[in-house]
Amino acid sequence: TNTIRPLIAGNWKMNGLTSSMAEFEAMLAGAGSVAKADLLVCPPATLVGSFAAKARGSKVAVGAQDCHPKASGAHTGDLSAEMFKDLGAVAIIVGHSERRADHGETDALIRQKAEAAWRAGLTAIVCIGETREQRDAGKTLDLCGTQLKGSLPDGSTSANLVVAYEPVWAIGTGLTPTAKDVEEVHAFIRGVLTDRFKGEGEKVRILYGGSVKPSNAAELMAVANVNGALVGGASLNASDFLAIAAGC
Ligand code: G3P
Repeated sequence: TNTIRPLIAGNWKMNGLTSSMAEFEAMLAGAGSVAKADLLVCPPATLVGSFAAKARGSKVAVGAQDCHPKASGAHTGDLSAEMFKDLGAVAIIVGHSERRADHGETDALIRQKAEAAWRAGLTAIVCIGETREQRDAGKTLDLCGTQLKGSLPDGSTSANLVVAYEPVWAIGTGLTPTAKDVEEVHAFIRGVLTDRFKGEGEKVRILYGGSVKPSNAAELMAVANVNGALVGGASLNASDFLAIAAGC
């Protein structure tokens, strides 16, 4: 299913100030020459509005990194999917391992956040992935299966859902699984998606994330059932991000 059009998504995490607009503008300027992939940048919430306004009419879409499960209400400091939609976002990352770890997010909460993204008309990018200990214990597929089962809402389609497989031990470490290991997990994810969502599950994009760089992107993107990348560190730099997209 590498006939699915790839998505190269950048997750800026807690990086970026108003001065980062210059880097984003460099991405917009180079995006025209990226023919084979869709591009999405998820800056911190503080920059979603200005980036989305700047990106209007370009090939780059803008997304957010998290949302509250509710649309509005007494939740000091939280932000809703509706607010991001209002700013021009088209997608929201939910269940990133850093949020699972830093904020104790459970599969059930992540599922609610994915449903919140849908309610606002946005695509949910649901993240899963094992720790080093879980991989060493041979529990990778079990764990990914449990996370998928708990985090994906009923009614997932190729239009409203993207799955990102991010082995926790590969994030920000420079380490990546072998192509064979990535292939195994992505095939497993595809199986779970098609069992549950039938024809739609065959078309849902499954991204790989974890130390994707220009130097390893082409090899990773060529793996069966890898339909793009969720890029952290390398997405902060326009030329690296565009080089990764050019590797599709
Ligand atoms: O969400 C993307 C991320 O967790 C991967 O980060 O810096 O290893 O590309 P990085």
